[in-house]
Amino acid sequence: MKLFDSHCHLDDSVYDKDIDDVIKRANEAGVSAMMIVGTNKDSSTRAVALAKSHSGLYASVGIHPHDAKNCSEQVLLYLIKLAKSKKVRAWGEIGLDFNRMYSPRKDQEKWFVRQLESADELDLPVIFHERDSNGRLLEILKEKHGKERKGVIHCFSGNKSELYQYIELGFYIGITGILTIKGRGAELRKLAPLIPADRILVETDAPYLTPAPEKNRTKRNEPAFVKSVLLKLAEARKEDPEYLSDIIWKNTCKLYNLHKFI
Ligand code: NI
Repeated sequence: MKLFDSHCHLDDSVYDKDIDDVIKRANEAGVSAMMIVGTNKDSSTRAVALAKSHSGLYASVGIHPHDAKNCSEQVLLYLIKLAKSKKVRAWGEIGLDFNRMYSPRKDQEKWFVRQLESADELDLPVIFHERDSNGRLLEILKEKHGKERKGVIHCFSGNKSELYQYIELGFYIGITGILTIKGRGAELRKLAPLIPADRILVETDAPYLTPAPEKNRTKRNEPAFVKSVLLKLAEARKEDPEYLSDIIWKNTCKLYNLHKFI
């Protein structure tokens, strides 16, 4: 089984001591490619450096909605420069988060739209973060949706109507370990069979959202555990895991334009 962790944060300092072991365990579990997702200026810088130093690792650059209040045109220019590296295959994670409200709504919306413009200029797919935006993210995307924009709704947590709207806009749907959690994942397990197979991605969002059963022995998530997400997804969709993993691998390479690389 060949797996792609389409969203993780290996640049996080919790991996400082054993990053090589973490990557080795991922490879041994069949996870031969990983996307390290930037969330601010520093994490984007680290993500790109890490991707450059290991084969099978790729990076994205972007300012997370939590960090929107610290964004500026200068930071944006810095990220655009950083994105020139061949290892940078996406822009993100960007979007709206009205759950935590770490940045004011007006800053979130301003820098979300500005970053969409940057991604479009660079012709990079977008990694979206959406939490409790009550339809606002979809509204912006429908206004600003260039026909050709590719993207993934990372850690999808919406309802059925939102799911169909994302699919209609042409986006991929990122499934995390939440799917494996008994109570919290129940709704997602109901929606999972409704996603067209050619639109699904799997991800860990490591070090967060550790799936079952690994969460019983460790708090820190890591890319190797994306296999548990895939297995639960195959179960929820009543599909063969090998068959599903093959499609998801191809979906991820297509989104991140990696056909020529792997
Ligand atoms: Ni993330």
